[in-house]
Amino acid sequence: MNMEWHKIYDFKMHGAEPQLLFSVRTIDVNDHMICLGRLPEGYFAVSDKCPHANGRLGIGQCNEEGKVICPYHRYKYDLKTGKGDEKQGDAVQTFPVETRKDGVYIGFEKEGTKKWWKLW
Ligand code: FES
Repeated sequence: MNMEWHKIYDFKMHGAEPQLLFSVRTIDVNDHMICLGRLPEGYFAVSDKCPHANGRLGIGQCNEEGKVICPYHRYKYDLKTGKGDEKQGDAVQTFPVETRKDGVYIGFEKEGTKKWWKLW
């Protein structure tokens, strides 16, 4: 997959652990509002927009199961897969995240490389 990577944390500038474990926050990167969560396995990124009623997931909470809890009506989404809890039947978009020597990067598909079924 043809990806464009954006550095979201620079370890020199932000320190070695720029975000607390089991926390989420909203970041604005590459014209996307992203909910970035930190779990023991690393950083995970999903769309910040809750599919239920457009709540902002990044101002919600993260539980020890690795799920972000929307602050509006408390729907839950798995930070690794984007899947909503079983009864919700929904999901949020996920984005790849890499932790490298110098910082944390988030990847976006390059324009023009989207699959035809993702164009609309
Ligand atoms: S807006 Fe997120 S649960 Fe309703």
